[in-house]
Amino acid sequence: MTGMAILEVKDLSRHFGGLAAVNHVSVDVEDGEILGLIGPNGAGKSTMLNLIDGTLKVSSGTIAFRGHNITRYPPHRRAHLGIARVFQKNALFKGMTVLENVMAGSYLLTRHGPWGMIGHTYERVRRQPETLKHCMDLLEFVGLEDRTHELCVSLPHGSQRELCVAVALASDPALLLLDEPLTGMNAEETDSMIRIIKEVNATRGTTIIVVEHNVRAVLGLCARSVVLNYGQKLTEGTPRQCVADPAVIEAYLGTDHDVA
Ligand SMILES: Nc1ncnc2c1ncn2[C@@H]1O[C@H](COP(=O)(O)OP(=O)(O)OP(=O)(O)O)[C@@H](O)[C@H]1O
Ligand SMILES: [Mg+2]
Repeated sequence: MTGMAILEVKDLSRHFGGLAAVNHVSVDVEDGEILGLIGPNGAGKSTMLNLIDGTLKVSSGTIAFRGHNITRYPPHRRAHLGIARVFQKNALFKGMTVLENVMAGSYLLTRHGPWGMIGHTYERVRRQPETLKHCMDLLEFVGLEDRTHELCVSLPHGSQRELCVAVALASDPALLLLDEPLTGMNAEETDSMIRIIKEVNATRGTTIIVVEHNVRAVLGLCARSVVLNYGQKLTEGTPRQCVADPAVIEAYLGTDHDVA
């Protein structure tokens, strides 16, 4: 690696009873890169993201973000430092509009926190035109500027995923964690999301870790990827090297995911 590591994961483990979901994994994530995190179902990919954003506590090992040891930090403190997450299942406020959801994401930047604005949205929007502009810019960025006042649940699946990205970006994160952003998307939605992810990285300089089963997409998005299997790091390298690795091919055999 040439650049500086924004995230240093050292000897990280997480057990659930007798199961080592993440087992002594070390990974350095370079500032400004898009890192692919791949592996068969149950390999520990989402658990890794849960440990990085603080959703789960580690069993052992350390996580450093921009030189801070954040291993024991609660999720909101990590979010304030600049780590944002898009979950495998959409986590939107169902009763709110598209714009209100992004507003909720941006409130992380204020003393109110994301829950502070519920029920007060429009009043606060009026009082904070700069926040409104910030959120509208993000919605334009993901192509949802014409749907701002619709309920988020009325959007098609692909657009809801794009909205989740806008919500995550609203707190201006330095590190964005994406858990299977392309799952369930048609070809058009997939292309649109890939373009958005590339643009986030290129224009905002956001470092991105993307968990994805769509290997073609990983090949297109990432210069580097890490392969997990049964909680352990199997290999790392360019996605092309990874999918050609006999150990990786072996790990995928007998699963429902094709490496090519
Ligand atoms: N909260 C939990 N309690 C108990 N076991 C869990 C929990 N979360 C994950 N696991 C187990 O840990 C292992 C890793 O799960 P994880 O969700 O991290 O896999 P994954 O690589 O994200 O899989 P997928 O591709 O299916 O999303 C699995 O065996 C899973 O059943
Ligand atoms: Mg998962």
